[in-house]
Amino acid sequence: INEKACNLILFGGNGDLSYRKLLPALFNLERKEMLHDDLNIIGCSRTELSDEVFQSEALEGLKENATSNPDESPEITQRFLNRLSFLSVDASDTNDFQQLKQHLSSLKGNGCHIYYLATPPGLFVPICQHLEAVGLVNDKSRLIIEKPIGYNLDSSIEINDQVAAVFAEDNIYRIDHYMGKSAVQNLLALRFANVMFEPLWNQNYIDHVQITVSESVGVGNRKSFYDNVGALRDMVQNHLLQLLALIAMEPPTHLNPEALKHEKIKVFRSLRPIEGKRTKYNTVRGQYSAGELDGESLPAYNQEGDNPKPSNTESFVALKVDIDNWRWSGVPFYLRTGKRLSSRYAEIDIQFKEIHHSIFKLPTKANRLIIRLQPKDSIQLMLMNQEPNLSGAVNLVSDPLNLSFTDQYDPADIPKGYERLLYDCIIGDPTLFMSRYEVEEAWRWTDTILAGWEEFDVPVLYYPAGSMGPDAAEQLLAKDGRKWFNNN
Ligand code: BG6
Repeated sequence: INEKACNLILFGGNGDLSYRKLLPALFNLERKEMLHDDLNIIGCSRTELSDEVFQSEALEGLKENATSNPDESPEITQRFLNRLSFLSVDASDTNDFQQLKQHLSSLKGNGCHIYYLATPPGLFVPICQHLEAVGLVNDKSRLIIEKPIGYNLDSSIEINDQVAAVFAEDNIYRIDHYMGKSAVQNLLALRFANVMFEPLWNQNYIDHVQITVSESVGVGNRKSFYDNVGALRDMVQNHLLQLLALIAMEPPTHLNPEALKHEKIKVFRSLRPIEGKRTKYNTVRGQYSAGELDGESLPAYNQEGDNPKPSNTESFVALKVDIDNWRWSGVPFYLRTGKRLSSRYAEIDIQFKEIHHSIFKLPTKANRLIIRLQPKDSIQLMLMNQEPNLSGAVNLVSDPLNLSFTDQYDPADIPKGYERLLYDCIIGDPTLFMSRYEVEEAWRWTDTILAGWEEFDVPVLYYPAGSMGPDAAEQLLAKDGRKWFNNN
């Protein structure tokens, strides 16, 4: 493990991600005494903001999003807020970077900085170039970049090349916060620290896999950003494909970044391109129209934000994905994600095949492994059981064998995705971050879908906010005689 980094410079420091996820994650680390004394957090963006306003906006963010209420631990909260300062930095203005340099040299520390770019990808390169121009990059500096890295394969290669001209690959941390979620890391333990799943983990025993990341929130004031992105780039190209890779990959030789990257890339290269007629057959694009959830009326996608402009960006995607390799031949992976769906949950369902021969006169239900990533991490294995009764009659039921992580462990001890990954970057552990080749392979595959949507005019289908997406998503599975497993 490398030297601990000392200052965290947060570009996009007063943005949604910073207040909702990054600062609350850092506050959790503060509570756990995982931040060393001279770590400063410097928020940067074009906005003029005093340190005091930044601190009070950050505090609001903590109240809404931190795992524990900051009012309950005033001393810790104050220690955390004291670390925060703000500087107005325009990504295209060298003078502003000179000021940043001065500001940093006035702070204590060992000169080892982490630059976190929580900005649109278009700003990654100018920020890196300016940091270098003013002498703020040395071989200890680390860079964290948020997904999506680029808007397609070409722009992602360009960004990766130009960023590589400033930072060494070992110092670039491409973050996918799903990789930091405990339940996601646990996929490795589940598969490779137990003897009983791996022999069944293939096309002989698995019928299909479903991966659902369902969000109840809408795009809100992120609409103008989201209009240029859409659910395929925002969620599938990164989070869902990372989950798919962890489920589908071969056992890595070691738990290190090199070995994991190698196996994930092999999966991405085995994804059958969704092209030609398959574009219409295997994909569903959706956008929410106005609707209602729990008695609350919800606006349509196109009514979101301060200055709504109509757009046909997809807020929902469902895909049927085939993996052309020995292990997964004939086992479809169905992926779906969307905003303004009926509830917030993320789940991976491994649907096993039926038993080969039944001695019972009653129907049996095939086993299913349900890996719940959020809101509460759990693993359930649906097993057939004999329901107890006096008459001796055989009555088979499907019951869960249940592991709830929130019952097993103190929920406050289960780190959030960003918390784990920020800490890993501070201590210099890149295992859970993405390599450029993974990102590029994932783009190669998603680009084909994006191109197909355009070429074949695949329509964006409307679904009422508060539902589980367009009917066509149900049809996608119904065509194969299957159904989505919905939140229960
Ligand atoms: C982000 C996306 O990467 O993940 C957001 O940009 C999305 O659009 C978020 O809301 C979901 O993260 P989580 O951890 O709440 O499932």
